[in-house]
Amino acid sequence: MAILVTGGAGYIGSHTVVELLTAGYEVIVLDNFSNSSPMSLKRVSEITGREFKIYNVSILDRNGLEKVFSENSIHAVIHFAGFKAVGESVEAPLKYYQNNISGTILLCEMMQKYEVKRLVFSSSATVYGVPKVVPISEDSPLSATNPYGRTKLMIEEILEDLFRSDNRWSISILRYFNPIGAHDSGKIGEDPSGIPNNLVPYITKVAVGKLRELKIFGADYPTKDGTGVRDYIHVVDLAMGHLKALEKNFASTGVSTYNLGTGKGYSVLEIVKTFEKMCGEKIPYTITERRPGDVAVCFSDPSKAKKELNWSAKKEIEEMCADSWRWQAKNQEGYDEEENTILAGTGNLRLIQNNGDFLY
Ligand code: NAD
Ligand code: UD1
Repeated sequence: MAILVTGGAGYIGSHTVVELLTAGYEVIVLDNFSNSSPMSLKRVSEITGREFKIYNVSILDRNGLEKVFSENSIHAVIHFAGFKAVGESVEAPLKYYQNNISGTILLCEMMQKYEVKRLVFSSSATVYGVPKVVPISEDSPLSATNPYGRTKLMIEEILEDLFRSDNRWSISILRYFNPIGAHDSGKIGEDPSGIPNNLVPYITKVAVGKLRELKIFGADYPTKDGTGVRDYIHVVDLAMGHLKALEKNFASTGVSTYNLGTGKGYSVLEIVKTFEKMCGEKIPYTITERRPGDVAVCFSDPSKAKKELNWSAKKEIEEMCADSWRWQAKNQEGYDEEENTILAGTGNLRLIQNNGDFLY
C-alpha cells in the first residue's frame, strides 16, 4: 500500500518513513525542504535498503500536489509538513497560518478530489495550552498560547468539520509531547537550523562544543528540583505510533485523537544528568529567567492510545539521550553541507535507488 508522507524529510517524518519502509509499505515523500535536507532521505534509503519516490513540492502548490496525486495510487496520507517554531510564529503569524492551515486545506482538497480519505495528522501537546491537571488526557480543555499552537487547534477543528461533511473520512489526530532521540544507526536525527530552541538539541550542541553552555530557563517552578518537567518521547516510538494509527485508519472511519507520550515527566536537570551519563561529558549550565510562555509541568496520559491503538512508548530516557548524542557526535554539522550542495537543483522528481544514486 502506498502512503504519501508530507514533510517526510524532516525530523519526525524521516524516522516514520524508515518504519513504514521496514514494515513493507510503499512510500512517497513530498517535501519542499524548507526546514530539512534531501540528505535525510538518502540516509533513510541507506538504512532501509529501499527505494521510494521523493517530490520536491510544497503543500501550497496546487499543481505540484495534482502531479503527486495523479501519478500515484495513494492509499493514505501522513501529514507532517508545516512550520513549528513557536517564537517565529509570534513574529510572523501570517506565514504560519498560510503554510500550516492553507497548506493543509489544499492537501485535503486534493485528497478529496482523488478519493483518498485516510489521514494521520501531526498535532501537538501545545493544544492543551497551560494545563490545569496532569497527566493530560485527550478530553482536557484546549487552548493556544501562540500562533503556532493556534494553527494546530484550527486544523484539528477543520478536520472535524471535514468528517462531519463526509463520514467516509478516517482521520487520526496525534498530539505529540516532546520528541527527542534519533535512529540508533546515528544516520538520521534532529538537525535544527541556527541556534536550537528546544532543550535536547541545545544540550547536544553544548556536548560537541558548538555552544558554550546551556541556559536553564527557571529553577523556581513548583517541581521536584525547580526546573520544568516534560514528557520526552523517543522519536522511533513516536514513528511507530503513526503506523498503529494508520492501521486504525484502514480499519474504520471517524476522527480519533491520541496523545503520543510516555506518561512520565522528567525535569531539565534530570535530562542534563542523564545526558552527561550517556555521553561522558559535563554539560555546563547557568540558571536564567523563566522563558515566557513556558509551563511548569506537562506530561501525558497515554492510556487511550494503548487501549485503542495497542501502542505504547517502549524506550527509556537513557536510550533517548544516548541516541540523541550518537546522532550529534557522528554528524557535528548536521546533514553534510557539501553533499547538500551537490543535491541542490536536481529537479522535481527524484527516485532513490538502493545504492543511493539519484535518478530523475
Ligand atoms: P521538521 O521541520 O523537521 O519537519 C517538517 C517538514 O515539513 C520539513 O522537512 C519541511 O521542509 C517540510 N515543510 C514545511 N513546510 C512545507 C510545505 N509548505 N510543503 C512541503 N513541505 C514542507 O519538523 P518535525 O519536528 O519533524 O515536525 C513534524 C510535524 O510534527 C510538524 O507539523 C510539527 O508541527 C509537528 N510537531 C513537532 C513537534 C516537535 O517537537 N518536533 C512536537 C509536536 C508537533
Ligand atoms: C516547546 C514549545 C512547544 C512545542 C514544543 C515541541 C515553547 C514555549 N513551547 O515546548 O509549543 O510544542 O517545544 O517543539 O517554545 N529549556 C531550557 N533551556 C533551553 C531550552 C529549553 O531550560 O535552552 C527548558 C524549557 O524551559 C522546558 C524544557 O526545557 O522546561 C523543555 O523545553 P523545550 O524542549 O523547548 O520544549 P517545550 O517547552 O515543552
